[in-house]
Amino acid sequence: EKGGYDHFMLKEIFEQPQTIYDSMRGRLDAPKGTLTLGGIREHMDLLKNANRIIIVACGTSWHAGLVAEYMIEELCRIPVEVEYASEFRYRNPVVGKGDVIIAISQSGETADTLVAIDSAREKGAIILGVCNVVGSSIARISDAGAYTHAGPEIGVASTKAFTAQLTVLALIALKVGIEKGTITAQRFQHLLDEMNAVPDKVATALALNDQVHKIAEKYKDARDFLYLGRGYNFPVALEGALKLKEISYIHAEGYPAAEMKHGPIALVDENLPVVIVATKDSYYEKIVSNIQEIKARKGKVIAVVTEGDDTIPSMADDVIVVPAADELVAPIISVIPLQLLAYHIGVSKGYDVDKPRNLAKSVTVE
Ligand code: M6R
Repeated sequence: EKGGYDHFMLKEIFEQPQTIYDSMRGRLDAPKGTLTLGGIREHMDLLKNANRIIIVACGTSWHAGLVAEYMIEELCRIPVEVEYASEFRYRNPVVGKGDVIIAISQSGETADTLVAIDSAREKGAIILGVCNVVGSSIARISDAGAYTHAGPEIGVASTKAFTAQLTVLALIALKVGIEKGTITAQRFQHLLDEMNAVPDKVATALALNDQVHKIAEKYKDARDFLYLGRGYNFPVALEGALKLKEISYIHAEGYPAAEMKHGPIALVDENLPVVIVATKDSYYEKIVSNIQEIKARKGKVIAVVTEGDDTIPSMADDVIVVPAADELVAPIISVIPLQLLAYHIGVSKGYDVDKPRNLAKSVTVE
C-alpha cells in the first residue's frame, strides 16, 4: 500500500508530478491556450466583480492561501485577505454581500474552516471551496469550487495536497484574470505553458532526494532552524518550517527574509541552519543581501536556488538547485526539497513521520 516506499509521506511526496498533473487534467490545455474550470463558471461574474476575496484556512492550507493572495492580487487586481479560520470565526469580521470567500482544505472537514464559512455565508458572502476530499463537509457547504484531485493523503504532514492546492489556485487566478482583462493574452499563455511544465520540473526536483538526504544528515542535530523567503517564496518558507516542526520536532520558524533584521537576526550564530528559498525572481537581488547578512553572522545557509545561478552558490554552505520557473509557479517546485528535508531529518531521528505525536490528520474540533 506504500507502493514500495518506507512511508506514506515519501510516497506522497514522490506522487507529486502525477497529482499536480491530475489537478490540471481536463482543465488546462496549454497548447490550445484554453483553461476550463467548470466548478466556478456560473459564479464568474461574482468573482470578477468581487469587492475583495477572503481566503480562510488552517495550517498548510493557509500557506497555500498566502501564495494565492499574491497570485490573485497580481493577476486579478482584487484585494485579498488571508485569514486563519479560527481567528476569522471568533472575531466579528466585516463581511457580506460582494465578498467572495475561498475556503482551502485538504480534508474538507476542518472544524474551524467549516464554521467560519458557514457564518460568512449567512452574512451574504459567496463561498468557493478548494478541497481535496470529494463530498466533504466544506465542499458540500460551498456555493461552488474546484477539487484539487490529489488523491487520498494519508501522511499527517500535508505534501501533495499543498502542491495541488497551489496548482488549482493558480488556475483560478488565471481564469479570473483573463476573464476580467487584468492580464494580457500573452502573459496568460505564458503562464499556461509554465503550469503545463510544472509536473516535469517537480520530477527534476525530486531527483535531488539523495542530495537532500545528505544535507538532512548534516543538520539533523540542530536545535532550531530558520526558514526565509520573499514574495511568492515567503509562504514556502513558512511551509518548510511547519513540515520540519511536525515531522522532526525541531523548533523552526519561517519568516519573510526582510523581516529578519527586525528581530530574528539576533538568533543567528554558527549553530543556526538557515534555509533560504532564493530562486531567481524579482526579489533576487534583495535576497542576496539577506544571505550576506546571515553569513556575516556565521549562520549556516542552505539555499534553494535556480539552475544557472552562480552567485548564491558561492555564498551558501549547501545548495539545492531547482529548475527555472516563472515566480508565480515557483513555489510548487521550491517546496519539494523542503518536504524532503523535513522527511529525512524526521526519519533519521527515528520518528514516525506518518503519524507525528500530538497531531491528527484532520482537526475536527474547534
Ligand atoms: O484538511 P485541512 O487542509 O483543512 O487541514 C488544515 C491543517 O490542519 C493541516 O494543513 C495541518 O497543518 C497539516 N498537518 C500540515 O502538514
